[in-house]
Amino acid sequence: MQRPFRIPVDVYLGPGCLSGLTDYLADKGFRKLLVLSDNGVSETPWFEPLTRSLPPHELIKGVEPNPRVSTVDRIALHARGSATDAVLAIGGGSVLDAGKAIAMLLTNDGTVMDYVGKNRFEHRAAPFIAIPTTCGTGSEVTWVSVLSEPETGTKWSVKGDGMFPTAAFVDADVLVTLPPSLIAATGMDAMTHAIEAFIARGANPASDALALQAIRLLVQFLGPCVRQPERPEYRARIMHASTLAGMAFGNADVGAVHCLSEGVGGLLDHPHGLLNTLLLVPVLRYQLPDIRDRLKEISAFLGAPMPETFIERLESMIGGFPLGRWQDLAISPDTFGDIARRAEQNGSNASNRKDMRALDYHRILQSMAG
Ligand SMILES: [Fe+2]
Repeated sequence: MQRPFRIPVDVYLGPGCLSGLTDYLADKGFRKLLVLSDNGVSETPWFEPLTRSLPPHELIKGVEPNPRVSTVDRIALHARGSATDAVLAIGGGSVLDAGKAIAMLLTNDGTVMDYVGKNRFEHRAAPFIAIPTTCGTGSEVTWVSVLSEPETGTKWSVKGDGMFPTAAFVDADVLVTLPPSLIAATGMDAMTHAIEAFIARGANPASDALALQAIRLLVQFLGPCVRQPERPEYRARIMHASTLAGMAFGNADVGAVHCLSEGVGGLLDHPHGLLNTLLLVPVLRYQLPDIRDRLKEISAFLGAPMPETFIERLESMIGGFPLGRWQDLAISPDTFGDIARRAEQNGSNASNRKDMRALDYHRILQSMAG
């Protein structure tokens, strides 16, 4: 049966929209908020004025990149004992994913590992408000939280109908403090979301429309934004693209790029956006015979003559970004088998239009090693 298209989130989208946050929270009548962030975001000049305007809350700043199962459990345990009735997450995908899982644990007993998979929890999550501070995650409009378990080198997904954020405030003004390398890497994560959503088996006309518009905005404005992040019109367009891409993949799913990047990221803790940026072109080239028709539609939408031209355009965009190379990550060939196996077991592997086995992922890793 076809999955319905849905986005049950109050989405506030546009530069300056954060000015409405205080009224929104007052309307909801929350008595005590848990405010989550990370050490980078909480040092930015706009963070303190924003949190000063909030209703009674407790601030926890230490959510790490690739958030851990143990961090989520520890904070949830603390919040359960402190009469928290809503969670507000201010940060990139890591902070948002941690906050989303903590909100679910406020209304459900046990630890987060009890709920790995889809719809494994009983009660709807506590209200969760997401404020993305990067231009890539899309987590502000999806039902999924991806968490790391370093002990086993695994990334786990926890998701369900009751885990959609209550509200998202997507305000491009917060990007003013994001370094160009992170604009590039997180913007390419958004690009990957949009492209993978468009070529996924679960794509539908609504997710296609969102994905195509996100791709167009990112192709046109991500390069200029990385070079001139002080230009608000560039920031606004890529921030919008990021949320549109989130809506697209939240309904259509992602595919092989994310399967591989989560395999690598779980084992080696490299940043998600960087891994996707570096994996995107090799994966598209590997899958090209099976996804040519879909890539042709993207190319036509952008006015490019053929899929190969679109991939070359992505390649030259990525080459111009201030990011490291795949070789700099020093991923040992000894780990390829393990990564490939994890990629095949990823929950999104079934969404690939091309049937992808561990052998396919292994071949991609080998080709990238040169
Ligand atoms: Fe992603």
